[in-house]
Amino acid sequence: MSRRTDTWNEIFKHQGKVFREPHEDMPRVEKLLREHGASTVLDLGCGTGRHVVYLAGRGFSVYGLDNSPEGLRVARQWLEEEELDADLRLHNMTETLPYGDGFFDALISVQVIHHADIAAIRRIVQEMVRVLKPGGILFVTVPQLKDGKPYSWRGIEYEEVEPHTFLPLTGPERGLLHHYFTPESCREEFSDVEIVDLHADSVNHHCVLGFKR
Ligand SMILES: C[S@@+](CC[C@H](N)C(=O)[O-])C[C@H]1O[C@@H](n2cnc3c(N)ncnc32)[C@H](O)[C@@H]1O
Repeated sequence: MSRRTDTWNEIFKHQGKVFREPHEDMPRVEKLLREHGASTVLDLGCGTGRHVVYLAGRGFSVYGLDNSPEGLRVARQWLEEEELDADLRLHNMTETLPYGDGFFDALISVQVIHHADIAAIRRIVQEMVRVLKPGGILFVTVPQLKDGKPYSWRGIEYEEVEPHTFLPLTGPERGLLHHYFTPESCREEFSDVEIVDLHADSVNHHCVLGFKR
């Protein structure tokens, strides 16, 4: 099975806004942003823009990156419909993020950074931390490993290409790498972040909330 990186672009092309409602923790994240006077926020892997629209609509200065042109097209259209503005760019998260050190007050990334192997994820996390100011807020969700297996894959055939990184061979995301996390591996990979909350959400993803050390 050859690996693919355009899977989500194809999904967005055929289904448009797959995700419409903001993540269930977003009101809590917004409250924390306000309490800490955060203004600039990056949504890494913004997709069709549910969090870009949510945060821009609440007065934050929002930036979004994604490698899906179709996702960004839908997000831009959504912003226009809501008469909102945000800085959206086509970008592959495995490359250096196009911002200076400490540029952002906060960074969110919902169900995105697991689409890579562990070496790439470590570089991505390093970049996320680099573009956050000291004390900046980070909110990330990643899928849960349960009994050494992807938690949510029922009926999907897959190959484990390295520990905890899986390549689905069937299903809508076939060919796209997925790395699965435990609470321990979340703490390990985000060691540059002082984690204030780590819990599982209703779609079996670990939610990591914290401050850059
Ligand atoms: C499950 S969707 C989540 C979208 C969005 N964060 C949300 O919560 O609605 C995964 C997103 O990750 C993006 N993505 C996957 N690999 C990427 C990469 N290498 N660089 C940038 N974005 C990527 C996809 O295009 C897609 O928008």
